Amino acid sequence: MKNLLHSIRFGETTAEGNIFLAPMAGYTDRVFRSLCLEEGADMSVTEMVSCEGVARGSVKTIDLMTRAPNEKILNVQLFAPDAETARRSCARVMKANPQILDFNCGCPVPKVVKTGAGSALMKNPEEIGRIVKALKEETGLPVTVKIRTGWDSKSINYLECASIAFENGADALSMHARTKSQLYSPYADWSTLKTLKENFPDRIIIGSGDLFTAEDGVRMLKETGVDAIMYARGAIGNPFIFRQTKALLNGEELPEISTEMKIEKIMYHLQGLSSILGENAACREMRKHVCAYLKGIKNGAKVRHMISSALTIEEYKDQLGQLT
Ligand SMILES: Cc1cc2nc3c(=O)[nH]c(=O)nc-3n(C[C@H](O)[C@H](O)[C@H](O)COP(=O)(O)O)c2cc1C
Repeated sequence: MKNLLHSIRFGETTAEGNIFLAPMAGYTDRVFRSLCLEEGADMSVTEMVSCEGVARGSVKTIDLMTRAPNEKILNVQLFAPDAETARRSCARVMKANPQILDFNCGCPVPKVVKTGAGSALMKNPEEIGRIVKALKEETGLPVTVKIRTGWDSKSINYLECASIAFENGADALSMHARTKSQLYSPYADWSTLKTLKENFPDRIIIGSGDLFTAEDGVRMLKETGVDAIMYARGAIGNPFIFRQTKALLNGEELPEISTEMKIEKIMYHLQGLSSILGENAACREMRKHVCAYLKGIKNGAKVRHMISSALTIEEYKDQLGQLT
């Protein structure tokens, strides 16, 4: 059996390993990406970035593409309804100096889908091809495409979408093994990832869906044959999952993560957010992360409740102090 932990090459850019952080709007800002990279993620992806917003010069949208200090590979995820919109964003996207572009064909959010972007593109696979071609022509960068298995159970067309994406020059394909209609439950159907890899044995396939523990990650690599995996919800509140996965892949014991380590990480995460957003906004932004960090910890629920009104770093410190 081939070594499950290995580097991955995207054009001129090489990720040193194959354990990635998936794009998550509202979560994978540069602070969280940086944290996950420190904990062993081999590549991260930005939150989804609107090509239309970039082309218009929206400062908020452009800020999403800012590189984290330790982010050697800046992988910007773009979304657009068509090739023309994607093309118009490229000059400004290039100013962020990314190494890789990922293109979103999986977002199920109605606001996005109704414009023809995100998973709506899976109903229009030829346009996916035109977009990949346009992005490659305009930027010369490696382009990866992120899809779902189809729009709904009656229109499973991931093989067709993958084929068109690769024919038009995609350097890799990642797939969330659910249809658009399924949103985030029930379970992801990993057999589709296996089929995808079997159909494109020489292409880079990245698996996503229901990776909640390090054991899940190892199992997906083994069972489906995908080249790489991407942690999404499993990394929220648990950036340690990357280190844990690598330990398992190296035949070591699963590293235990103590409450003290979690508290230290929360405070570090909060300081990072504070340096970008200011203390008050960071304390608010951090609440959703804290809920995830404290899951399963004794007295975690009580502290989570108290933190839901904390507006200073000092208050966070005081509340978290009750856990040790
Ligand atoms: C809060 C949230 C935000 C997400 N945002 C994006 C996004 O911006 N772009 C994207 O391609 N996928 C996005 N996803 C999908 C994830 O990248 C991933 O494919 C999906 O959550 C399945 O993995 P999981 O079941 O292990 O969480 C998002 C998922 C979540 C939970």
